[in-house]
Amino acid sequence: MSTEPDQARSPAREAAEAGRFRQPPDPRFWRLNRSLPFDWQLAIYDIDQSRAHARGLAAIGVLDSDELTRMESGLERVRERMAEHGFAFADSDEDIHMAIERLLGEEIGSLAGKLHTGRSRNDQVATDVAMVVQNHAITAIELCAATMAELLRLAEEHRDWALPGYTHLQRAQPVYLGHHLLAYFWMLARDVLRFQFALDSASVMPLGSGALAGVNWEIDRDSVADDLGFEHVTHNSIDGASNRDFVLDYLAAGSACTMHLSRLGSEVVIWSSTEFGFCQLDETFSSGSSIMPQKVNPDSAELLRAKSPRVGASYATLLGVMHALPLTYGKDMQEDKEPLFDAIDTVEGCLEMAAGMLEGIRFDRARMEDASGDEMLAATEVADLLVRRGVPFREAHGIVGALVRDAVEQGGKLSDLTPEQLAARSEHLDDSFYEVLERSSWLESKRIAGGTGSGPLTAQIEEARETLAAVRARVLDERS
Ligand code: ARG
Repeated sequence: MSTEPDQARSPAREAAEAGRFRQPPDPRFWRLNRSLPFDWQLAIYDIDQSRAHARGLAAIGVLDSDELTRMESGLERVRERMAEHGFAFADSDEDIHMAIERLLGEEIGSLAGKLHTGRSRNDQVATDVAMVVQNHAITAIELCAATMAELLRLAEEHRDWALPGYTHLQRAQPVYLGHHLLAYFWMLARDVLRFQFALDSASVMPLGSGALAGVNWEIDRDSVADDLGFEHVTHNSIDGASNRDFVLDYLAAGSACTMHLSRLGSEVVIWSSTEFGFCQLDETFSSGSSIMPQKVNPDSAELLRAKSPRVGASYATLLGVMHALPLTYGKDMQEDKEPLFDAIDTVEGCLEMAAGMLEGIRFDRARMEDASGDEMLAATEVADLLVRRGVPFREAHGIVGALVRDAVEQGGKLSDLTPEQLAARSEHLDDSFYEVLERSSWLESKRIAGGTGSGPLTAQIEEARETLAAVRARVLDERS
């Protein structure tokens, strides 16, 4: 699409040029000023908004009922025309708002000019963007729920499969796979709350703020808000015209959410390596190598890892755009849309792909169990045994450290140490030393709420089920 102005002029430009301006915009200015190449995505929201605004104008007598009917059916025809195959905007359309007004003029003539009564593009664009955020915050919640459902299903299926838990990517303590997977479930549950916050902050309608001071027409804002699905109207026209917090709120939620997915992706990349061999992705979420026929690469997991920073970057971009911006509207704010649209695509794409990737993932029980059978992982268990016998934890830590050194030095395991060797390190060590080295006891000793033991894990799965049911009910409620 060309971004140069052509001979035809947009209605705004024509109106302006008839008065204040004598010259067309310089193409070098026009290329950056023109937002249509990206804000066409606001079209459906702008038409819905315009219909509600027209009804608001009719309710106070600015439009008569015949005019309202013509206006509404004209807007519908514009909607249909834009959806037609081969539809193209005019090069002279500056943005989606001016384009729709021009198209409406082609449908209903000069009556189209009445639509902009009591409205500025400043409150118009803020309202459109708030509608976008509302819609996509709900979508994000819905997609979080789908990924949470997959995690919960996998957690239930693998509730008693042991694997090593890591710190510093070094084997630390064994955990159940169900427990590990649910860690991601709870991250997404917090993301749901973040998207919910973005939804609430976008549910306050700016329309009626005008350019900045309000408008001269006493349109019933509450009924327009109701018509458009907003919960409230803005309290202050200056704030209404200059606020983009709801976009920032969506971007912040999206940044956290994709960051969480990047950690999942990263673990899947590591786990699916030949060295680990803990899991394998389904072919449909993997790629082959163009040169090495044996390879099945975890590209989907790698993309989850790599997509996330673009959302954080969008957040930083818009925060930078809004930073120190004097009230109210500045053209700077036109730069809210590309970061938002890009983030929406990324957030939704990543959530959808994560759910799909998890659907077909397969875990290797033997490989994980083997790795978690490393007796050194039970070092803390031995320390706790000493603590139960009255040894202060710090001292116990030192004794076990020495035992580990003894075992390593003689090239063996902790359980290879003889009772004499144990006695040399502590008078409190007897045969129970060998019992706590049994693997099942390391996992089941974590009986504390939130721990990996089977008892708390069962309770956790129940809590996760309830949380997911509540999120799903919330989505249904928002969509109804
Ligand atoms: N395309 C503009 C934007 O996205 C619409 C608002 C224009 N308002 C103005 N005062 N020039 O921000």
